[in-house]
Amino acid sequence: MSIAVHPDHQKSGIGTALLKWIIDFFDRAGATQLEVGTGTFGYQLAFYQRQGFRVTGIDRDFFVENYDEPIFEGGIRLTDMLRLTIRYNGDVA
Ligand SMILES: CC(C)(COP(=O)(O)OP(=O)(O)OC[C@H]1O[C@@H](n2cnc3c(N)ncnc32)[C@H](O)[C@@H]1OP(=O)(O)O)[C@@H](O)C(=O)NCCC(=O)NCCS
Repeated sequence: MSIAVHPDHQKSGIGTALLKWIIDFFDRAGATQLEVGTGTFGYQLAFYQRQGFRVTGIDRDFFVENYDEPIFEGGIRLTDMLRLTIRYNGDVA
């Protein structure tokens, strides 16, 4: 699943509120960890790490192999996907 806020309403705390809700939901559901994937650069990295996610892996060429069209952000092509994880017991591998 993707997380997105309408461009007219970004930077007003909605995305952070959604992300906190998701983290809390899976904590209460008994999950041991929650993993997300995002590009290797851009503000999204801070968006996740601010909530405690830590980098746990990289999927090389994920955006090249899984999307029909190239994705650009800030003029740079997205190629690799970083995996970031929250472990609910506090540990990160
Ligand atoms: C990522 C996203 C869901 C965050 O939602 P949001 O409601 O804008 O998030 P918040 O208002 O809680 O802001 C979180 C941080 O992201 C920053 N941010 C949000 N949109 C930004 C943008 N377009 N450019 C730069 N920074 C941005 C905010 O400034 C804030 O950082 P700060 O506290 O240092 O100022 C939203 O920006 C979005 O829909 N982006 C496009 C889709 C996307 O990239 N989804 C994630 C895929 S992994």
